[in-house]
Amino acid sequence: MEERQESPATVLITRRETFSAAHRLRNPAWDDARNERVFGKDARAHGHTYTLEVTVKGQIDPDTGMVLDLRDLRDLIRRLIIDKTDHADLNADVDFLQGQLPTAENIVVACWRQLAPALGSGQLHRLRLWESENNSVEYYGE
Ligand code: NI
Repeated sequence: MEERQESPATVLITRRETFSAAHRLRNPAWDDARNERVFGKDARAHGHTYTLEVTVKGQIDPDTGMVLDLRDLRDLIRRLIIDKTDHADLNADVDFLQGQLPTAENIVVACWRQLAPALGSGQLHRLRLWESENNSVEYYGE
């Protein structure tokens, strides 16, 4: 390979995974009337097919030409998120959502806390969770 002066470029790469899960939005500290008022129909059990986009930021490794192997990122997301959430009841079944109201906002933050420690320092750049075709939330960490 020819000698290069430039330092490696920093790029963003994104992996998308989906999971189907049930949830209901209900604050256990409130009575039924207040839950119904705040959450409407979402207070009843229903399901979504969620799409989670995981964006990692890093320098291109000059030897591999990659930031990281997307197969490794895929396996990590599946092990830490999808295996636990797919076909699950998000109010009851998922260890990393225990005690949380499973709104898209709370889910995306919980996913961040699952994934960030498993990646290299500062690598996780953004999570975007789509709850439906029109609704998504984004999180960039604290
Ligand atoms: Ni919902």
